[in-house]
Parts: sequence; structure tokens; C-alpha cells
Amino acid sequence: MYRILEKKELAMRNIWYKIEAPHVARKVQPGQFVIVRAFPNGERIPLTPVIWNREEGWIVLITFIRGKTTMRMANELKPGDSILNVAGPLGNPAEMEKFGKILAIGAYTGIVETFPIARAWHELGNDVTTLHVTFEPMVILNDMIPDYVDRHIVKPVPLDPKEDFPTNMKNVTKVLTETVREMLEKENYDLVFMVGPAGDQRAVFNVVKEFGIPMKADLHPIMVDGTGMCGACRVTVGGEVKFACIDGPEFDAYQVDWDVLIARTGYYTDMERKAMEEYMKLFEQALQGGEQ
Ligand SMILES: Cc1cc2nc3c(=O)[nH]c(=O)nc-3n(C[C@H](O)[C@H](O)[C@H](O)COP(=O)(O)OP(=O)(O)OC[C@H]3O[C@@H](n4cnc5c(N)ncnc54)[C@H](O)[C@@H]3O)c2cc1C
Ligand code: FES
Repeated sequence: MYRILEKKELAMRNIWYKIEAPHVARKVQPGQFVIVRAFPNGERIPLTPVIWNREEGWIVLITFIRGKTTMRMANELKPGDSILNVAGPLGNPAEMEKFGKILAIGAYTGIVETFPIARAWHELGNDVTTLHVTFEPMVILNDMIPDYVDRHIVKPVPLDPKEDFPTNMKNVTKVLTETVREMLEKENYDLVFMVGPAGDQRAVFNVVKEFGIPMKADLHPIMVDGTGMCGACRVTVGGEVKFACIDGPEFDAYQVDWDVLIARTGYYTDMERKAMEEYMKLFEQALQGGEQ
């Protein structure tokens, strides 16, 4: 059992959990992730240690409330409670090299995964600019990241209540791609790195490849076991089938088959929506004194 030492809402739908997990804290490297099973009857989800303390044995996970599991965690867990399993660290650490001038992008909550890698690259002597593009009420870590990189740029995109969610997301993609284009036109970067929704990663990649700059992307296919056994996370990279959990999560953006990745990511959307709706019904009943 993994005790929750601290829990707080950082911004809209973004929750910070500081968790006692000495075996992860001791070994985790930037770029790796854990698979969390928060509840006995719950699903496994991959999450990324954002900061950690090896001596004190804790890690911080930040979740975006996306579907049933992240919503359950936000609703049902409080400081002092425990998370059932935290398996890891899993996946390959990010490549730690002197690349030179790096643009490290996090879209939405992707910034929590970009941050530990960007920080380590900066410590190695790279010149690191982090770029965070997200909805205005979802800006996070703006007080922390600037201390650990060369410059941190935040582009908050207003949420337009008159528009539906897909239209709002298109606004984020527009700001993201326009900002990246402006930055690449102004300065010479040696590497671009990005974490975020696959559609946004592809949109940014399409800009980056016009400039011929190397780009790495952390991929987020659905993961179940995180150890290469279930096959859920398969992606096509360089014409070969790879498992994001054991071969990645970081891949060369030029080699990724983005169409296949994006199609597979949306495969379970209807079921995810149904699970969330059913959970919310039960949760509301429980709030009104019924059974949960
Ligand atoms: C390597 C890796 C690191 C990640 N790190 C973070 C992080 O630090 N913070 C954060 O908020 N999110 C992170 N994610 C995404 C996070 O795992 C999903 O948002 C989460 O699984 C959604 O679960 P849900 O039940 O709330 O939503 P639902 O959308 O209902 O998900 C249902 C099921 O699908 C799977 N699933 C759905 N979307 C994803 C996805 N994008 N990636 C993997 N599995 C998915 C889950 O296993 C879950 O069991 C990471 C994903 C990967 C692959
Ligand atoms: S998550 Fe099962 S093979 Fe990668």
C-alpha cells in the first residue's frame, strides 16, 4: 500500500498526489513512468513521477481528470489514504546527452512529463526552453519549472464557453503550432521534444519537419501491464511494431506512424465515456445517501 502524503488541486482538473513509494523514488529516472492501480476493483493507468525524493522515499504524480479512474482518484482519495499498487519504474529513461539547444513542449498536462526530462537536460548543460500550451484555467507548475530550465514559456488559451470542446481543442492546436513555427523561425534549435495528445504531437511534428530539426515524442498509446506482456501499447515506428512501454515511451517523431497511433488511441472512446457516465451516476447516488 502506498500512502498519500499530500493531495491538492493545482488547477482545473489537475490533481497533485505526493505518495510514499520508496522503491520507485530510489530508482526512477526522467522519462520513466509507473502503473498505478488505485482501487481493489480498479483499472491500471500509467502515470509519470514528476518530482521525487530518493532519501525520503516519495514521488509526486499529477493527474489530469480524463475518465473514470482519474475521476475516482480525485473524488475518493484523500491524504492519509493509500493507493493499492504503484508498479515501476517502467519504460526507458529519456536519452541524456548534450544535444545543444532544446525546445521541450508539453501540451495540456503533458507538461508534467516534459518537466523532469527538461530539468535533467538542463542539468547536463543543454540550453532548454520549455513551452506549455493549455487552456487558461489548466496552467500548472508555472511557479516551479522556471527555476529548473533556461526559459519557460506559457501560452494560456482561453476556454470559449460558447464553443464545444473539440473546437476549443483546435484553438490549442493552433496556438501550439503557430508558437512553435515562430520559435523555430527565430532561433536554431538542435532538438524538439514533445508530450501531449497524439493529434497535437503530429501537428507540431508537421511544423518541425519543415525545418528539418530532429524531434522526439513520448507516445501514449493505451497501456495495461506496462511490461511488454499484453500488447495493448503497440505502435508502428520505422515500419516495425514496437511496444511503447518497453521500447519507449520516447521515439523518433520522424519514424512514428501517426495515423495508426491516432486511430488506435480513439478505439475505446465510447466505452470510456460509458464507464465514466455509469460511475458518475453511482457517485451522485452515493452523495445523496444511496449505495456507491
Ligand atoms: C507513459 C504514460 C505516462 C502518462 N503519464 C500521465 C501523467 O503523468 N498524468 C496524466 O494525467 N496522465 C498521464 N498519462 C495518461 C493517463 O494514463 C490517462 O489519462 C489515463 O489512463 C486515463 O484514465 P481514465 O480512466 O481516467 O480515463 P479513460 O479515458 O476512461 O481511460 C480508460 C482506460 O484506458 C486507458 N487509457 C486511456 N487513455 C489513455 C492514455 N492516454 N494513455 C494510456 N492509457 C490510457 C487506461 O488504462 C484506462 O484503463 C500517461 C500515459 C502514458 C502512456
Ligand atoms: S502495456 Fe502491455 S505491452 Fe505495453
